[in-house]
Amino acid sequence: MTASKKTKDQAERALLLVNIGQLLTLRSASAKPGPRRGPELKELGIIEDGAVLCVGGKIVSVGRTKDALRDPWLKRNRKRVIEIDCEDQVVVPGFVDSHTHPAFVKPRLVDFEKRIAGASYEEIAEAGGGIRSSVESVRAASKSRLAEKVSDALHEMAEQGTTTVEAKSGYGLTVESELKSLEAIRDAAARWPGTVIPTLLGAHVVPKEFQGASKNYVGLVCEEMIPHTARRKLARFVDVFCERGAFTIDDTVKIFEAASKHGLSVRGHVCQLSKCELSRFLDFNPASLDHMDYVSDADIARLAQRDTIATLVPGANYFLGQGHYPPARTLIDAGVPVALATDYNPGSSPTSSMPVVMSLACTHMQMSPAEAIAAATVNGAWALQLQNRKGSIEPGKDADLAVFEAEDYREIPYWFASNRCAFAVLNGTLVASGGSGELA
Ligand code: NIG
Ligand code: FE
Repeated sequence: MTASKKTKDQAERALLLVNIGQLLTLRSASAKPGPRRGPELKELGIIEDGAVLCVGGKIVSVGRTKDALRDPWLKRNRKRVIEIDCEDQVVVPGFVDSHTHPAFVKPRLVDFEKRIAGASYEEIAEAGGGIRSSVESVRAASKSRLAEKVSDALHEMAEQGTTTVEAKSGYGLTVESELKSLEAIRDAAARWPGTVIPTLLGAHVVPKEFQGASKNYVGLVCEEMIPHTARRKLARFVDVFCERGAFTIDDTVKIFEAASKHGLSVRGHVCQLSKCELSRFLDFNPASLDHMDYVSDADIARLAQRDTIATLVPGANYFLGQGHYPPARTLIDAGVPVALATDYNPGSSPTSSMPVVMSLACTHMQMSPAEAIAAATVNGAWALQLQNRKGSIEPGKDADLAVFEAEDYREIPYWFASNRCAFAVLNGTLVASGGSGELA
């Protein structure tokens, strides 16, 4: 049977999870529209002894096990339903990893050792390492080799409970190799049962051959990369690394203008290594602004009034050995909607694990386990403009679930770096953890 036929059959089959110790629906107690902010981040909508019925890749009912088993449809169709007993397990919405860079070939081990010896991320980049040192191997790689690397990452993510992934290009930095990276992401996505949202990050850094001519490179991004990407529907978003040593605020505005002109939404890497004024970006209604380590109080006040998500990626702070972390408490307490993501990439955050990121958020950013779970699910969905389909376990939403060996949801960030995810459901398809691939 072909992979796509198998996936289709599984999605059409019905799946019933019963006797769930704790089912975290993430349903909001209030009817307030918009992403979760402030105390709303703690609303997990927990059902004990819960059940979820999924049919055709969608969630159709959610409640207590005893009520689910009385359902007349279920009584009639019991034979075609795969039933799984989730006693002593916790079920959460599949994680939405809303910031990843999987289109690369090799790890950056030289940078890793240089940092251990005391060099900073920026010093390494200035000396020819950093993002630019990942470019040659991506330009030389075939599309299928790149797609294989993306596939490996997606499978690793699913084994840890991630069911939706934003995937950026950004290590090709020519029209041809950025489009090749986006095609590789598309091809890997077609083989994975979860959901992938592609992003063009042609403006990751100015490539060597444009050094001293960054305006020309910005022109290439605006006049060639973006139009080709949009015409071929290879990306949903355009991203820019706005930072000293990468692109300026003016460059970023130009790129956002070109993206909007071609019907693509925008998101940005901002305030990672230095301060940056965000007000001009807000006119473009970015779905998300990411990193935010050096965000100003004035911008925090502005963001508290908007639905743009502040996506925090503490894996990067951890891996770069920076003694500080993004100001999650200040952002949350001011009413800014925050999400958590891995920032999976070879330079600053080589982790595919949302539970590890949630653990860092708890231990280094004073987020509670409940806040971390909401930031990794419902607000991640907002960061990708997928809030109507993803991020909570409610009838009508996509059947995306992560099942953990735990009696209490707080164990998810507590047991750090040991994978307790038993299996995940991605658009109705079961994927077991532990290398065994798809179940049933
Ligand atoms: O989000 N800061 C820009 N991009 C990545 C790092 C990419 C790399 O070093 O390869 C980040 O941290
Ligand atoms: Fe990033």
